[in-house]
Amino acid sequence: MDKVKILFICLGNICRSPAANAIMQKLIDDGQLAERFFVDSAGIGGWHVGELPDKRMRKHGAARGYRIDHVARQFDAQADFAGFDYIVVMDDENYKNVSRQARNAAEREKIVRMADLFVRHQGCDCVPDPYYDGDEGFELALDLIEDGCQALLARLTGR
Ligand code: 4NP
Repeated sequence: MDKVKILFICLGNICRSPAANAIMQKLIDDGQLAERFFVDSAGIGGWHVGELPDKRMRKHGAARGYRIDHVARQFDAQADFAGFDYIVVMDDENYKNVSRQARNAAEREKIVRMADLFVRHQGCDCVPDPYYDGDEGFELALDLIEDGCQALLARLTGR
């Protein structure tokens, strides 16, 4: 059976999407689902390509048991729309940017807003960029991403 392939997208690929990548990978590993899913992340922009995630996100994630160590790369529309089944974006700006790069309806339908998955945070309409925030911004981003990832995996596994 082919793996279900999930790509998380944010602006810089150093805060939100590498956190989502690590959180989803841990849910998959803990659920012994590694043979069924592949996850990755990428950024809209290329400013941080090759860098490890932001130290603050790594620290806040580590406190919750996540190892957030994805090396940043830029979204590649041609390869990534072909290579992934779901492209999960963190906010409406990401959604607009990635949607503009879709070449057809089938590609557009792969794009999912993380906020549309929330179960415990249904009043929130995005995962806000924590880059210019303090500790609370990183904690909020992790809370939201945990909610969205748990909900997505539950949907995809029917569990
Ligand atoms: P992210 O946060 O999109 O969650 O990785 C950002 C990190 C860096 C920048 C923007 C957002 N930046 O402009 O450098």
